[in-house]
Amino acid sequence: MPAPSILFVCLGNICRSPLAEGIYRHLTEAGSGKPVIASAGIGGWHVGNPPDRRSIKVAAAKGIDISSQRARQVSPEDFLKFDLVVAMDSSNLARLESLMPSEATAQLHLFSELAFGTREDVPDPYYGDLEDFEAVYSMLFSGCSAVVAKFE
Ligand code: 4NP
Repeated sequence: MPAPSILFVCLGNICRSPLAEGIYRHLTEAGSGKPVIASAGIGGWHVGNPPDRRSIKVAAAKGIDISSQRARQVSPEDFLKFDLVVAMDSSNLARLESLMPSEATAQLHLFSELAFGTREDVPDPYYGDLEDFEAVYSMLFSGCSAVVAKFE
């Protein structure tokens, strides 16, 4: 199977899903496939904004530059454009299930289920501190590595 195009989705598209997008792109950029990778938010509050400075910081510390990403809101058309739509937590998943059109061609997954075969949330770090962002980075890095390996 060719590397799937993936849309990562969280609530605001400024903390978790931009990190997932940046990590996944970083992990696949050395390969020949270079799949289309993107991210979006359930809500529109931060549309047009760069990622949260703490997400930018933890990614930069690992050599990944996500500062040029801009937040956007997920739309029903995304379910026709991407192979996989991947929710960061169960609340995001429920919202995406209700947004998903009947003609959707994308598969909808919970991140942890796709990556680890478990059902756990990538915790929302927005009201936390840098340590929470570092923990999210680690979870996303191991999860994205597992997903990349699945499609190699
Ligand atoms: P994210 O985090 O879903 O990982 O981007 C959040 C960002 C913003 C808000 C909530 C969560 N907010 O309420 O504005």
